[in-house]
Amino acid sequence: MVNLVPEKLPKHVAIIMDGNGRWAKQRAMNRIRGHQEGAESVREVVRTTRELGIPWLTLYAFSEENWRRPRYEVNALMKLLKRFVRAELEEMLQNGIRLQSIGRVHKLPQDVQKVLQEAEKKTASNRDTVLTLALSYGGRQEMTDAITAIVRSAEKGEVTSGSITEELIEKSLYTRGMPDPDLLIRTSGECRVSNFLLWQLAYTEIYLTPTLWPDFRKEEYLKALEEYQRRERRFGATGEQVAGAKGRWEL
Ligand code: IPE
Ligand code: IPE
Ligand code: MG
Repeated sequence: MVNLVPEKLPKHVAIIMDGNGRWAKQRAMNRIRGHQEGAESVREVVRTTRELGIPWLTLYAFSEENWRRPRYEVNALMKLLKRFVRAELEEMLQNGIRLQSIGRVHKLPQDVQKVLQEAEKKTASNRDTVLTLALSYGGRQEMTDAITAIVRSAEKGEVTSGSITEELIEKSLYTRGMPDPDLLIRTSGECRVSNFLLWQLAYTEIYLTPTLWPDFRKEEYLKALEEYQRRERRFGATGEQVAGAKGRWEL
């Protein structure tokens, strides 16, 4: 039995969905079959996030480095993405889910961009859960783009070296307006961040599981959330300070 305390649920869960290829290989199937099965896990995790009332879910669906994969695999992933967004639109509308994307989305094929933009527009007023897909996303590229934007503002005289703050940097990232993730999940046993949300993960709790993404369904997700609730987040303070303030202390 999984025991979850509603007040202690994370506000923002981020997931590196890894292991589709290995899942397929174990079954002597094509890697694409693994991605298809992985889409089912996405469905289940999105649904559960919404049911639990978690307001932010960010999924690493395609990294900037994933463009290096064989063309047929990239094409299949793009097709799958398009199909997924189309198929899920109705449920997102019914369940108050807002879809958005982060990354160099302009690099995706035109037809995929169009489907994404349409879904983002249609779900824009939804308020319950924000589902963010990281697409052609890389943390270093995000920082590069942020620095470029800040230097542009400086060139126009709007920013000076003395006015660079963490808030200004946050506002210049793709994730502007989003809280930092409380929990990062990575499936498939890999222990690396693979260029995901490098700035935002500063104090995120990390949950690693050997389960491959296509096998990461509701039960596994609830297990991760349960483990998260057992963690003590200190943000640099001492355990005593945290315990004394019952989680309400401020930095
Ligand atoms: C994750 O599964 C999906 C994407 C990166 C798009 P992989 O395709 O990386 O699966 P493995 O790591 O090869 O098993
Ligand atoms: C990370 O997985 C990217 C996504 C899940 C979209 P990868 O499979 O691309 O990561 P590496 O190459 O093993 O680090
Ligand atoms: Mg992988």
